[in-house]
Amino acid sequence: MPGIRAFAHALPKVELHVHLVGSASLPTVLELARRRPSAGVPTDARELAEFFTFRDFAHFLTGYLAVTSLVRDRHDIHTLVAGLAADLAAQNCRYAEVTVTPYNHLLDGMPGDELLSGLETGRARAAELGVELAWCFDIPGEKGAKAGQETLVFALRERPEGLVSFGLGGPELGVGRARFEPFFTRAREAGLHSVPHAGETTGPATIWSALHDLGAERIGHGTSCAGDPALLEHLAAHRIPLEVCPTSNVRTGQVPSIAAHPVRRMLDHGVVVTLNTDDPPMFGATLTGEYVAVAEALGLSALELVRLAENAVDASFLDERRKALLRSEITQITLPDPGNFA
Ligand code: HPA
Ligand code: ZN
Repeated sequence: MPGIRAFAHALPKVELHVHLVGSASLPTVLELARRRPSAGVPTDARELAEFFTFRDFAHFLTGYLAVTSLVRDRHDIHTLVAGLAADLAAQNCRYAEVTVTPYNHLLDGMPGDELLSGLETGRARAAELGVELAWCFDIPGEKGAKAGQETLVFALRERPEGLVSFGLGGPELGVGRARFEPFFTRAREAGLHSVPHAGETTGPATIWSALHDLGAERIGHGTSCAGDPALLEHLAAHRIPLEVCPTSNVRTGQVPSIAAHPVRRMLDHGVVVTLNTDDPPMFGATLTGEYVAVAEALGLSALELVRLAENAVDASFLDERRKALLRSEITQITLPDPGNFA
């Protein structure tokens, strides 16, 4: 299907689900690993590729936390943010909501001020590159209520420029969403949007819980909703967007292939689907690549790709003025004749 990649590349895009540590480029991970070989992250490119070949979600998370432990100070945070911004700019991605997990960095000994300083200077660099960044501070669920409390306190006390949402990541199995209800309630009362991961590695009950207990306004992944017709209907009727990360789901073994991904079922039921990368270099993903992969697997037209890009604008926490600007940028893109790639 010629033209699909060029079209997906040129399409002005928005990324709503990407983890800061998981966005580190392979050269950056190697550089950090060489500085601290005892952390167990390979210092050789071939070995790193092997390290990033995941048996399952738990294996992925172990690798992810090992990379997290390499990040020590404001300079490292700046390097990650600026690197992500450059990668996004090169793909015509104009705006991203980036998940940061302060509790993990604080636990690893990074002072809060270092984290905030790196985020601030990195965000300024992103603006120079034409990419607006917003932050989601998320709770690493495996670390329990203490992580919930400390993430909440840090978010509300510091309230850095660009902080828009409050999340919950990590494993879902044995880590019920409802346990984090008090922290989400307070974060929402303070004006932060609720965007927990749910239904990535467990069933639809977790998504229902994210909606009912955490007031989720968007769902991180939501993959398993496809098995629950009432949930599909609820998500569509209430226009609760899903932050779908197809390649991530394949690489952590949640779905066998993009073609088998329930994204088709979500779209068929009128659910608001957005495409995202999660942890791009760890999964060999790019935002443009997600659009291409889904278009190829589902046989989408150019217009349907445009709709997906528009969904991400609509589902973002940008203000209406910025949304309108981005929508008009998307509208100006020339559709390939005769309107599809087939
Ligand atoms: N799910 C949960 N936690 C995570 C993820 C994810 O996809 N990526 C990084 N932390
Ligand atoms: Zn994620």
